[in-house]
Amino acid sequence: MIILGIETSCDETSVGIVEDGKRILSNVVYSQVKKHKEFGGVVPEIASREHTARIDSVLDDAISEAGISLSEIDAVSVTQGPGLIGSLLVGFSFSKALSLSLRKPLIGVNHLFAHLYTPELENEEVLYPAIGLIVSGGHTSIYYVKGPLEYENLSKTRDDAAGEVMDKIAKHLGLGYPGGPLIDELSKKGDSGSYSFPFPKIKDGSKDYSFSGIKSYALRIIEKEGNKLSLYDFLASFQAAIIEYLLKNVVFFIKEKKPKSLIISGGVSRNSLLREKGKEVAEKFNLKYYLSSPLLCTDNGAMIAGIAYHYYLKGLFIDYESSAFSRFEPKGFR
Ligand code: KG4
Ligand code: ZN
Repeated sequence: MIILGIETSCDETSVGIVEDGKRILSNVVYSQVKKHKEFGGVVPEIASREHTARIDSVLDDAISEAGISLSEIDAVSVTQGPGLIGSLLVGFSFSKALSLSLRKPLIGVNHLFAHLYTPELENEEVLYPAIGLIVSGGHTSIYYVKGPLEYENLSKTRDDAAGEVMDKIAKHLGLGYPGGPLIDELSKKGDSGSYSFPFPKIKDGSKDYSFSGIKSYALRIIEKEGNKLSLYDFLASFQAAIIEYLLKNVVFFIKEKKPKSLIISGGVSRNSLLREKGKEVAEKFNLKYYLSSPLLCTDNGAMIAGIAYHYYLKGLFIDYESSAFSRFEPKGFR
């Protein structure tokens, strides 16, 4: 079964083609990062326009790279949400038209579930249950994963996402965009014990994340230190605080749920400290550790096409009346 997956939820225009939910035939990702650089963050209006301009050629490239013809596609899948609504609608409308013209079923995929699926694309067999951390510029969530399409949300951010906070602080310091990779690189020259950051506490006792407090605290340090700010030490301390906070909740749920594996996915999972510290956690609790290769960490069409196979097996198709959504989980959505 060959499924085509379209991803346009943020600033990557991507089409992937995957066979039987496992074998990637192609995965073409056009990153718009250069278009957003001068603004220090993703500008939704520009993102939608870029998707519109690029989606055609990204599809063509994906088809030719896979060495198949469009008629060999068994189903069309697309990110239905969450994400930027204007961006989502470009991929969603395009997918509807494609599905109609090919007379093949349409599958609407939850973007977060697709991130959790990425280990399936690089490992013959994935050990479940897993604790899955999704951490990117738009999301920070923890899931209990019993298998493909069997997810229980355990934690999510109540405000900013971890990558967003890194991007905002880097922008504030005039370092450039995206901030995450820059902070990752520059932190290597600093001492992470130089500045201390308090961990946010959610008053109702839940294990949701809140990153806005860390961001405000970082801004206060920058303001207070002024010219005295030791940049590399500050960045190393800031990055270490974010990673420690991310993994603190992960460890809490590992102890509670006793999984067999740990999955870390999303753009921030490219971070070298997170990859290393995540490994330490996995080793400590004797878990199989699943990290994706860089292309699969960021948003991509292959992860959409991959999990869509399981939607297909369960008969979870959508009709042409359905729409994309920006927020997480409207009623009845899987
Ligand atoms: O998954 P992604 O490509 O897009 C979405 O946000 O959905 O993730 C992009 C995020 C940005 O915030 C970027 O700064 C962050 O991932 N990122 C990193 C690293 N590489 C990308 N953050 C920390 N360290 C990195 N090496
Ligand atoms: Zn994503």
